[in-house]
Amino acid sequence: MSKLWGGRFQKETDRLVEDFHSSIAFDQRLYRQDIKGSIAHARMLGKTGVLSRQEADTLIRGLEVLLADIENGEVTFEVGAEDIHMNVETLLTERVGEVGKKLHTGRSRNDQVALDTRMYLKEQIRDVMHLILDLQKTVLSLAEEHLYTVMPGYTHLQKAQPVTLGHHLMAYFEMFRRDYGRFGDALKRTDVMPLGSGALAGTTFPLDRQMVAEELGFSDITANSLDGVSDRDFVVEFEGAASLLMMHFSRLCEEIILWASDEFGFISLDDGYSTGSSIMPQKKNPDVAELIRGKTGRVYGNLLGTLTTLKSLPLAYNKDMQEDKEALFDTVDTVKKSLLTLNPMLGTMTVNKDRMAAGAKGGFTNATDVADYLAKKGVPFREAHSIVGQLVFKCIRENRVLEDLTLEEFQRYAHVFDKDIYTVIDIYECVDKRDIPGGPAASAVIEHIEEGRRWLAGAQR
Ligand code: ARG
Repeated sequence: MSKLWGGRFQKETDRLVEDFHSSIAFDQRLYRQDIKGSIAHARMLGKTGVLSRQEADTLIRGLEVLLADIENGEVTFEVGAEDIHMNVETLLTERVGEVGKKLHTGRSRNDQVALDTRMYLKEQIRDVMHLILDLQKTVLSLAEEHLYTVMPGYTHLQKAQPVTLGHHLMAYFEMFRRDYGRFGDALKRTDVMPLGSGALAGTTFPLDRQMVAEELGFSDITANSLDGVSDRDFVVEFEGAASLLMMHFSRLCEEIILWASDEFGFISLDDGYSTGSSIMPQKKNPDVAELIRGKTGRVYGNLLGTLTTLKSLPLAYNKDMQEDKEALFDTVDTVKKSLLTLNPMLGTMTVNKDRMAAGAKGGFTNATDVADYLAKKGVPFREAHSIVGQLVFKCIRENRVLEDLTLEEFQRYAHVFDKDIYTVIDIYECVDKRDIPGGPAASAVIEHIEEGRRWLAGAQR
C-alpha cells in the first residue's frame, strides 16, 4: 500500500515494521473524534480562505458520510494506513477524490492525535464522573438505611470502638467525593485545544484556532506549539485519578469480601453478584468484589506505564507517545466497568444487623467509654486507662464482658464508679454520645447525609 508520507522513500516498509508500528488496531476507537476534529478543521480552512468554501463543503460532506458509513459497519480499516488519522484521510480521499488531499493543510498528525485524545477523554471523564455520582447516591441511601446499624469499628483489624454501618459507608462517600473532584480537575486541563500546533512549530497558514476550539466545545487553546503536541499530562492525571478511585474500591471490596465470610457474617451478597465453585457445592464467592480489587493492579500499572513512557522524552512528539493509548483505553474500560458493577453489588447486598451488633458488643469496644467516664469524674486519663485495662484483663480471665461486672466489682478498681456506668457502656449509648460533627451518632450522620445530598444535587445539575 502506498503511504501518505511515501514521497521521500525508495523502499516499502518492512512487513514486520508495518505491523509493529501500526496503531489502527486500538486507535480506531478514536474514529468519531478524528472525524469531528477534521470537520471543524475543514470548516475553519474554508472560513479563513485557506481552502475555497466549495472545497471545505466537499470535505465536510465527505467526512459526514464516512462517519455514517463507519457507524453502520460498512468500513474496514487498513493496517497499512497505520493509524486512525491516515485511515480516515485515505478513506475520505477515496470518496471525494483529489480535494481529500487538502484536508491535512496546516495540520500534523501530532496535533491531530493530541486533539482526538483530548476530545475522547473529555467525554470519558464526564461519563466516569456521572457514574461516581450514581454510586454515591447508592451509598447515601444505604447509609440512611443503616443509621442505627451498630457494628464494630476497627483499627489493625482488631475491634476498636462501635460505629454504625451508615457512618462507615459515609467514609466512602467522602473518598468518592474527592475522586469526583480529582476527575473534575483533570477535565479542566484536558479541555484545551491543541490544533494549530502543527508538527511542533505551529504553521504559516492563518488558522483560526479559536474558531476550531469553539466548534469542538473546548474552553481554551494550548499556549505553546511544542507543549501542544508533547503534553500528555492530562492522560497521566486521568490515570492518577483512576488509580485513587480504584484504590478506594479495593479497600471497600476488601471489606465486603471479609464481611461476606462466615467468620464475619456481616453481609451476604446477592446471587447475581456472586459465583459458585465447580467442585464445592456449598460455595458462594464474592468474585465481583475480588475482581474489582484485582483490577486495581492493572489501573496502577497503566499509570506507571504511561509515566515511564513519558519519562525523559525530549520535546516534542516522539513515537513513544503512541503507547499512551492502550493504557488509557484500558483504564477507561476498567474504571467504568468497575463502577457499573460495584454500584448494584452494594445496592443488592443484605446486611445482617444482628451479627454486626453482636460483633460490636464483643471485643470490649466500650472500654474507652469506661476510661472517659473515669476521666470525667476527675481521674487522670492515663490512670483511668490503666484501671480499665485491669478490668478488661479480669473479664478476659473470667470469660465475661464489662456489662456483666457488678457495681461492687467496678468500685473495687475505682470508688468513683456509680450505677450510671451501665448506661455509659451500653453499646448504643457509646455511639449516640459521639455526636460531634463527623462522628458516628445518628444525629451527626444525618447531618452529613443531608449535606451530601445537597452537594450531590448541585453536582448533578
Ligand atoms: N499514531 C500516532 C500516535 O498515536 C499518531 C501520531 C503520529 N505522528 C507521527 N509523526 N508519526 O501517536
